[in-house]
Amino acid sequence: MKKTLTYKILDAHKVSEDLENNKMSIRIDQTLTQDATGTMAYLEFLSFGIDKVKTDLSVSYVDHNTLQNGFMNADDHKFLQTVADKYGIVFSKAGNGICHQVNVERFAVPGRTILGSDSHTPTSSGVGALAIGAGGLDVACAMAGMPFTIVRPKVVGVKLINKLRNGVSAKDIIIHLIGLMTVKGGVNKVIEYYGEGVKTLGVPERATICNMGAELGATSSVFPSDEVTLEFLKLQGREEDYKELSRDEDSIYDEDITIDLASLEPVASCPNSPDNVKKVSELKDIKVDQVLIGSCTNSSYYDFVKVASILKGKKVHKDVSLGIAPGSQQVLQMITKNGILDVLLEAGARILESACGPCIGMGQSPATDAVSLRTFNRNFYGRSGTNSAKVYLVSPEVAALSAVNGYISSPLGMELNEFSMDVTYPKCDSLLYKPTFKSEVVMGPNIKPIPKFKPIGLEFDAKVMISLEDNITTDHIMPAGAKVLPYRSNIEKISEFVFSNIDEGFSKRCLDNGDGVIVAKTNYGQGSSREHAAIAPRYLGIKAVIASSFARIHKKNLINFGILPIELDIEADLLDEIKVSWNKDTIKVTNVTKGKTYERDCDLSSEEYNLISVGGLLNTF
Ligand code: F3S
Repeated sequence: MKKTLTYKILDAHKVSEDLENNKMSIRIDQTLTQDATGTMAYLEFLSFGIDKVKTDLSVSYVDHNTLQNGFMNADDHKFLQTVADKYGIVFSKAGNGICHQVNVERFAVPGRTILGSDSHTPTSSGVGALAIGAGGLDVACAMAGMPFTIVRPKVVGVKLINKLRNGVSAKDIIIHLIGLMTVKGGVNKVIEYYGEGVKTLGVPERATICNMGAELGATSSVFPSDEVTLEFLKLQGREEDYKELSRDEDSIYDEDITIDLASLEPVASCPNSPDNVKKVSELKDIKVDQVLIGSCTNSSYYDFVKVASILKGKKVHKDVSLGIAPGSQQVLQMITKNGILDVLLEAGARILESACGPCIGMGQSPATDAVSLRTFNRNFYGRSGTNSAKVYLVSPEVAALSAVNGYISSPLGMELNEFSMDVTYPKCDSLLYKPTFKSEVVMGPNIKPIPKFKPIGLEFDAKVMISLEDNITTDHIMPAGAKVLPYRSNIEKISEFVFSNIDEGFSKRCLDNGDGVIVAKTNYGQGSSREHAAIAPRYLGIKAVIASSFARIHKKNLINFGILPIELDIEADLLDEIKVSWNKDTIKVTNVTKGKTYERDCDLSSEEYNLISVGGLLNTF
């Protein structure tokens, strides 16, 4: 049978299949973690009592909590470094760059499976790998050699034809697609790109597109591995990693979309959702206060070539703050050598560290009510650190031109070839460490043990602790930013911040009332893979989340930590009394206060049922 590229890779890694529940388990070749999710993932890994990681390659990155005000983040970094050294994990120190940018440069290999404790792990699929984001516990299990289970994904074939016009970029392709499919359109799907337009896109552009596949809720995205991939790997000194890979001609997709690249124009994701898409030409008179260029979406050398072509000989508008974060030390070295850094500085850019920084609310929060243009991938409410800010997601070209003009501007038609793309990529090993297997693990006072959770039981009474609308993100549930991130290794402390951006009383209400449930509508838990959005509510006594539908990674995180995800659309108000009874066949929810009962078949696989029955995955070891 003719196969899509997605199923060629999945089938080559298949360990087992559960056709009744439409699930498959796959072998994982490589893992990655970042520090914000990594400390939990490694605490979980340590609890397995295994002597070293079982994957071909595991990499631990420090890129999120790089601010070191006080001892907490520094404690976390030391813990991560000593675990990596002892258990056979490559360690990428703070300053080396954003995990996905570095992973594409140094480690992603065509045809391999990569599991990462970060929702934008699919960035590495830009080289033809199949890279999937997951919760930390799933990644810990993969490091211990266990297979990873997914819903057998549907494959969306996106045929790219023709080529982009000047001033239109890969970012516009993916924002356009998110506008078509919405933030829930990719759940349990892989987005596979093919067609003649593919070869007009370099690996950094393909990585940008795969990166924001996460904003569709997709399991992953994938590009073929072709002569463009070979060229990229050669420049990285990794020619031996190349393998040609493509779909079988005439393989059938579950859904078909065609994008005529020549018909696209610059677009933007408007506040506060990546799928709130408008043409840049429709936004053109909006005054801009801040422009930020970087993040795992758009921080490659290629991106800075375009930015510098626009900024050359110009000055950033006096009312605009332009911040630039090269995605890795390699990118920083390249823009330094090629004169691009000078151009950026002369134009008036502020150079930020090669890290996630403002993307995760670590610094550069906009002023009250400010308009911030970012080349990032998320503009959820509150994520910038300023709830009233209006954050637009755009291409590097739109960002740079708008920084000069002081209002949102379209670069459509601009020739941007001032700087050469023909460069040799420096190796940059100075902040990358291979394991010596010699360290003793150092756990400073910021690292607390993971709490033990009791099973929720097959029948329980609880109160509604919060009642929510559609598309609640993990940023709503467990905010990030400089105030919260230092407590990533301390569940008791971080639980004080659950829902704090939208409901300051949540945490106290839970502690005062005992057992609780969360009620929501569609796509609950979209966004980041952070498992704290499951662990911290569980710590506060949440036993079930009742929502019309869930985002993939978050649903798995809930199950992993013993919370029952119930797919039901129920009517409920704050503090309504709820009775839940569930077994392998059915789930029954009664809103005692409103006198209404809802019932559905149990949609959990037997493995998931068992996990919740025993109080979560950690109770099985
Ligand atoms: Fe970091 Fe933002 Fe990407 S937090 S991993 S740059 S989505």
